[in-house]
Amino acid sequence: MTNLAVAGTGYVGLVAGVCFAEMGHHVTCVDIDEDKVNLLRDGISPIYETGLEELMRKNYAAGRIQYTTDYQAAYRAADAIFIGVGTPEQPDGSANLSYIATVARQIAESIEQDCLVVVKSTVPVGTNDKVEQFIRDFLVHDVKVEVASNPEFLAQGSAVHDTLHAERIIIGTESAWAEELLRRIYAPFQLPIVAVNRRSAEMIKYASNDFLALKISYMNDIANLCELVGADIQDVAQGMGYDPRIGNQFLNAGIGFGGSCFPKDTKALANLASQHGYELRTVQSAIRVNADQKTMLYKKASKRLITFNGLKVAVLGLTFKPGTDDLREAASLENVPLLLEQGAEVHAYDPVGAANFARLYPEGAHGKGSIRYVSDPEEALTEANVCFILTEWGEIRQLAPEAYHRLMRTPLVYDGRNLYEVAQMRDANVEYHSIGREPSLRSRVKESKILG
Ligand code: UDX
Repeated sequence: MTNLAVAGTGYVGLVAGVCFAEMGHHVTCVDIDEDKVNLLRDGISPIYETGLEELMRKNYAAGRIQYTTDYQAAYRAADAIFIGVGTPEQPDGSANLSYIATVARQIAESIEQDCLVVVKSTVPVGTNDKVEQFIRDFLVHDVKVEVASNPEFLAQGSAVHDTLHAERIIIGTESAWAEELLRRIYAPFQLPIVAVNRRSAEMIKYASNDFLALKISYMNDIANLCELVGADIQDVAQGMGYDPRIGNQFLNAGIGFGGSCFPKDTKALANLASQHGYELRTVQSAIRVNADQKTMLYKKASKRLITFNGLKVAVLGLTFKPGTDDLREAASLENVPLLLEQGAEVHAYDPVGAANFARLYPEGAHGKGSIRYVSDPEEALTEANVCFILTEWGEIRQLAPEAYHRLMRTPLVYDGRNLYEVAQMRDANVEYHSIGREPSLRSRVKESKILG
């Protein structure tokens, strides 16, 4: 058992802390927010993450994890301190390191024994050299301190699972002492460990995330071409995925990638390259394709309809992906304002993310348009003139094609997640536009209209 402190109780910090406790370490999670700490002590997670609260309660009851705002006490007794605070994107695309600097300073002023500081936050290559120097400059006691890089690869919604069953643990250290200590801390996880130097570890994180972002943008680019030449991206992806050099995951064309990592990490790496006088052309292209992809369906629909003014528009899904309430860089944040500007009556449904969206766009009028939040997708579709599917929630996927035809005033659907077979929608007499596939056009006017 090792005494660990974790700075920051967001996605990265809290999940890491809870998983370390689950592996038998003694963990103290530190956060500056008193209210948040009180909630954590009550076993309530500030983030929506499958299985997290269960593990929080179990390990809290077993005395393996505690939460505090008293960083001095937590850092003083720690063998290793993990930093999991945010590195938000700045207007120029670079990472804001002020939270890391604050924690680094607190660590320097608190530690009274030799200590390894482990940075889990995603930081530009070379940052941890500076963090180490910064801590040493501000040290109050004469102790040994070193900084290691230990990036994580968890995806939101499956963060606990991804941490406990990671494909690999990356540890970037500059001494045998640091490497040994990290190997010991991770030994109970029984996962493959890749030990490299600090800068390589920092780069592995960016290179991995940006490669995945590139893969998505590549598929979106090919999907757009598929539409022009009459190919089907789903079939193309399936055929590609059998080649193990390509792999069959992350080949889903759609409405672009969102979330807290890919958009930020692609820009940060392109930015780092340009600071070194290098143009990272592949990643820049991925960023450009993604920016266009987010409003691809809106542009298609704008060409098809004379106006959105006064139309009832069902928006199904607001979060950047299912299984989370997170809206960061979600396609909804680009499409809904465009619809409102054009005077649409938006009826939005999301099983988890609606409350967060309503904080940004409260229910009611917004200029010419308006927005209402509904608690089931069928209600959103009722009497709608057009529907946009933006997130592949199970609740949306399970709607039968026939429901769109039955409920909507005009069954016109723009699906950014390719949830349905085109043929099924054609059979249900729904006009259906998706990504990288031929559209299905309605063959008959909606019967209910003819019958009145
Ligand atoms: C991602 C990485 O998966 C994770 O390893 C890293 O640590 C953090 O960033 P996350 O952002 O939580 O995790 O979600 P992910 O499931 O990877 O999806 C990111 C975005 O890409 C979503 O908007 C998703 O809809 C989109 N995506 C994903 C696609 O459009 N197509 C795909 O094939 C896969």
